[in-house]
Amino acid sequence: MKLDVLLGLQWGDEGKGKIVDVLTPKYDVIARFQGGPNAGHTLEFNNIKHVLHTIPSGIFHPEKVNIIGNGVVIDPVIFRKEIESLKKYNLTFSNLYISKKAHFILPTHRMLDAASEAAKGVTKIGSTLKGIGPTYMDKTGRNGLRVGDILAPDFKQRYEFLKKKHIDILNQHDFTYDINEYEADWFEGIDTIRSFQLVDSEYMVNQFLNDKKSVLAEGAQGTMLDIDFGSYPFVTSSNTICAGASTGLGVAPNKFGEVMGIVKAYCTRVGSGPFPTELNDNTGEEMRKVGNEFGSTTGRPRRCGWLDLPALKYSIMINGVTQIILTKADVLSVFDTIKVCTSYKIEGKTTDQLPYDVNLPIEPIYKEFKGWKKDLTNATTLNELPKEFLDYISFIEHEVKVPITIVSVGPNRKQTIIR
Ligand code: GDP
Ligand code: IMO
Ligand code: MG
Repeated sequence: MKLDVLLGLQWGDEGKGKIVDVLTPKYDVIARFQGGPNAGHTLEFNNIKHVLHTIPSGIFHPEKVNIIGNGVVIDPVIFRKEIESLKKYNLTFSNLYISKKAHFILPTHRMLDAASEAAKGVTKIGSTLKGIGPTYMDKTGRNGLRVGDILAPDFKQRYEFLKKKHIDILNQHDFTYDINEYEADWFEGIDTIRSFQLVDSEYMVNQFLNDKKSVLAEGAQGTMLDIDFGSYPFVTSSNTICAGASTGLGVAPNKFGEVMGIVKAYCTRVGSGPFPTELNDNTGEEMRKVGNEFGSTTGRPRRCGWLDLPALKYSIMINGVTQIILTKADVLSVFDTIKVCTSYKIEGKTTDQLPYDVNLPIEPIYKEFKGWKKDLTNATTLNELPKEFLDYISFIEHEVKVPITIVSVGPNRKQTIIR
């Protein structure tokens, strides 16, 4: 079988967790391939809301294999808390596997993240401060500590060696820190990880594919936060794009099947950086309120704005998206008029290409649609959707030339329409 990939096409929080959970029954294996606990993936069913940070969103289906791939970075403290909070749902986690090649976030990585952001001042990235950037820096700098290292007798010494390096750097910053308490929790988290099945997940995933098992790769963040193709430097530190599933799981590109891109019917962004269609007015405020747009990981208010087609087309190009999943259109039901940005005006010229320079002022050019002004949240079939909304869907499909195959009309598992 081929590897299918599901990823965000905007700035994250498109609804990946919900959709992976909905699609899990169709797959044998769900695998996270990048990012870490900067992610917050929300799932809702049986009147309970779950937010996952490191664990794949297929975990509520005990008969399905869930894998944390080599491209992921793991904070043992957060991982342990996640496991503890899920125990009450009678999950045994015998179906959860962790790649030995995944890297650890150390307590000092978090401190380095905070020191780096503090040093940047007004140009700060708006990081989730989970230590993501410094951990990936140590990975590419060939200093990192990996999950498989906990099996080595000198693990503690390796930890101390890396910690010392970090402390030396922290001492150069005018930054106060105290790691003692957090360090004890960290080693408790390491003990939790020790109790899991630590695997060479690249062999596992390829064996599953050879055995004709279906595997879904679950992305974190979104394409516009990709380290190479996002609005650098206002990005995360991993490849969030489809190619990241190849390096983050060890699956060759010729084994890729469907690439499902998730798109919110509008846009949100947490943290700093360019956001051409951002609405700093009552409309943006209304979107935030109705869409409950507050970060799943940090609780920060998300910046809100209209759908941005030039950015979406770019994401589709970079990822080779074969299907689009549209979420949260129900939030737009409150508006009389709905706008979609079809091109940008930059330095007096109209374009639909994203500029290299993230500081260039961009004026979005909009097409307006009549709002549907109807509650979508109870719709279960396409026939129940208002014509104005179906026109909106057709317009997007026509513009981006990729079919919208799933429409999500609410946070619950059941509020999903397969076209
Ligand atoms: P992720 O990071 O991509 O998994 O997305 P988040 O979980 O961070 O944010 C998406 C939010 O929207 C969560 O609170 C979801 O419960 C919620 N959500 C997902 N799909 C829909 C939808 O179609 N409509 C509404 N109203 N909420 C949704
Ligand atoms: P999910 O998987 C939204 C943003 C941060 C910040 C930038 C860098 O839930 O969609 P980092 O902590 O990686 O150093 O932060 O990226 N960011 C996200 N925004 N959803 C996420 O994940 C995000 N993960 C990181 O807000 O702007
Ligand atoms: Mg999220």
